[in-house]
Parts: sequence; structure tokens; C-alpha cells
Amino acid sequence: MSRTIEALIKHTGATSEKKSASATSQTMKAIRIHNYGGPEVLHYEDAARPQPQADEVLIRVHAAGVNPIDWKVREGDMKDLWPHEFPLILGWDLSGVVEELGRGVSRFKIGDEVYSLPEPTRNGAYADYIVVREPEIALKPKSLHHIRAAAVPLAALTAWQSLFDTAQLQPGQRVLIHAGSGGVGHFAVQLAKWKGAYVFATASTKNQDLLRELGVDEPIDYTQQRFENVARDIDIVLDTIGGETQERSWSVLKKGGVLVSLVQPPSEDKVKELGVRAALLGAQPNGAQLAEIAKIIEAGKLAPVIDRILPLSEARRAHELSQSGHTHGKIALRVSNADGTVARKTETLR
Ligand SMILES: NC(=O)c1ccc[n+]([C@@H]2O[C@H](COP(=O)([O-])OP(=O)(O)OC[C@H]3O[C@@H](n4cnc5c(N)ncnc54)[C@H](OP(=O)(O)O)[C@@H]3O)[C@@H](O)[C@H]2O)c1
Repeated sequence: MSRTIEALIKHTGATSEKKSASATSQTMKAIRIHNYGGPEVLHYEDAARPQPQADEVLIRVHAAGVNPIDWKVREGDMKDLWPHEFPLILGWDLSGVVEELGRGVSRFKIGDEVYSLPEPTRNGAYADYIVVREPEIALKPKSLHHIRAAAVPLAALTAWQSLFDTAQLQPGQRVLIHAGSGGVGHFAVQLAKWKGAYVFATASTKNQDLLRELGVDEPIDYTQQRFENVARDIDIVLDTIGGETQERSWSVLKKGGVLVSLVQPPSEDKVKELGVRAALLGAQPNGAQLAEIAKIIEAGKLAPVIDRILPLSEARRAHELSQSGHTHGKIALRVSNADGTVARKTETLR
């Protein structure tokens, strides 16, 4: 088929097997920023609905996860690393339904329920629709509603890539997870336990029960105890905090151990001095790993904890909460209700 005829068929809507009836409107609702700044730069407004190109999938977003990276991008912290253009749709965590397929997409079909960490240099998921590259998508765990599934990809992939790809966690190893009650930490605790590790994790007093429920062997209340007095001979430290926490973490590592930081480049001098390894991790989109994570969720070995569910229009509130640094588990934005209507309620859910 020539390109021209293909374009004409698409224009007249004759490719109905590739496109559902509802994907006809040219606009959608989205949370966008037009410049960097505080929560007030988040605008709930109309935006053009994106079109999938070759090897891309148009997804109707049902829910979007909120992560600290969202407000860091909003504030301009990432501008030297990621060349975003304005207006920008934030949010790189989603669960939804495949609405349209670009040329060459073979692993998904219209109507599939999927979840994804989409490439964060592109427009995000605080919107009715998003276009995502095929390799960044996986079928969502069937046992999770979209709102819970949207809480998984970014934080769980970060935990997976830190513990398994970078630190090469082995059964029986001793792991210290800072902020075990946070978005990344609560997945890291569960994945480390799933792999057979002995887990220490830190959180404040109010989150000690949560740490125990997640399976932490030795919960540490960082407001009452110095973690280095409890956690010793550690094989792997997951540093989600940086600063003084990272500085004090070197002393708990055994020789040959690994410190993986999500927030701050580890000191090369300490690595040489102590005979340990260290890395600064940047989480990457990975549909194949998300498919593995879905299997572990379906097996009942991994589950997201949800602090708060807000409607998409309340993204400002979601950012303020995330920026407090003291939410537990994840915040999720409900983009559409099951019946397709706009979500308005605020809900709390474990
Ligand atoms: N490099 C990457 O690819 C990557 C990927 C994901 C995340 N990150 C970064 O990693 C960091 C963590 O992300 P997240 O999503 O897990 O954040 P989060 O969900 O906002 O973390 C909140 C948790 O941190 C705990 N916390 C705060 N201060 C603490 C301290 N001093 N010691 C121990 N726990 C403390 C809080 O527990 P209490 O309320 O009990 O204090 C809370 O449960 C963020 O800076 C994020 O940007 C980087």
C-alpha cells in the first residue's frame, strides 16, 4: 500500500481494526507546565491528543503514578539532563488500555490492559492519552486495578534495577534499604525478601508497622536509633536519601559490599579506601522487566501500597504531598473512572 493511500484511509477512519471508535476527538485533558516553578505552574487544560508513530502505542490512561521525579522536573532540577520542551505533560508511571497501534507494533492489541514507565524525556501520563514505545510496555498484572497498577512501574523498576541488575543481590545477603516505607523502598523491601535476603530498613516511628508488614527483618526507626548501630556487615545499601545518610552508610558495608544511590554520586575515594563497589542508578524503562514484575505480583509476592488517590485535576495537591518527603508507598492520580467519566474523589487505601 502506498503511503498516500495509507494516509487517506487513516484520515477517513477506514482502519477501524487498528483504532477504536472513541479515539476520534483531537483534544484531551492533561496536566501541563509551560515553565518551571512551584506547584502553581501545573495547569489542568486541553492538549492535543498524541498520535502513535511506528513502533509506538496510544494508551488511554486510567491512572498515573506520582513520583518525586515529577516535581523535580517541574522545578527545573533535571533541565540540564533532559531536554524537555514546553508545554510539557508530567508523570512517568501509568496504567491504561491500548487504544491505537502504530505501524509495526506486534506484541499488543487494542483493548489490552497495560502498564508502563515511559521514557521520561518525552511527554508523560498526567493526561487522558499517552503515546509510549512498544518495548516500554507490559501487560498489567490482572489482579491489580489500574489505580494500583499505575503505582508500580517506576518505583518497582528502580528497586529491581538497583538490587538485581546493579548490586546482583544473592539469597542470604544482608541488605539495608533507606526509606523502606517510601515509593521505591517498599518495593525494594519486598523484592529483596522475595530473593531471600535478610532485610534492614529505615523509616520514622509512624511507619515501623508498615516495615514489619512488608517483611523487614529488622526495622529501624531513624528518629530513635542510628542505623549504623543496628545494621552491620551489610552486602548492599540502597541509598534513597543521600547527604548525611549516604555518608554514614559507608561504615555499615562489609568489604566487597555495594552501595547503590538513587540520588547522589557516591564518593570514589570511599570506594577505593573501603574496597567496596558503588553506583548512582538512573532507572530505565523496561517492558520485559515489568512483565517479570507482573508475574511476581500475580504470585502474591509483591504488592503496591497506596498512600492516597487523587483525581488528575488535583495534581498540585499530589505534588505538595510528595514533596513533603513523608508519604508512605505511592500517590496515584485517577485519570478516568471505570465507566470513562472524569475522576473527582480523593481516596485513601493501603
Ligand atoms: N535515580 C533514579 O532513577 C530514581 C528513581 C526513583 C526515585 N529516585 C529518587 O529516590 C528518592 C526516593 O524516591 P521515593 O519515590 O521512594 O520517595 P518517597 O516515596 O517520597 O519517600 C518517602 C519516604 O521517605 C522516608 N524518609 C524520609 N526521610 C527519611 C530518612 N532520613 N531516613 C529514612 N527514611 C526517610 C519517609 O518515611 P517517614 O515518613 O517515616 O520519614 C517516606 O515514607 C527520591 O529522591 C527520588 O527522586 C531516583
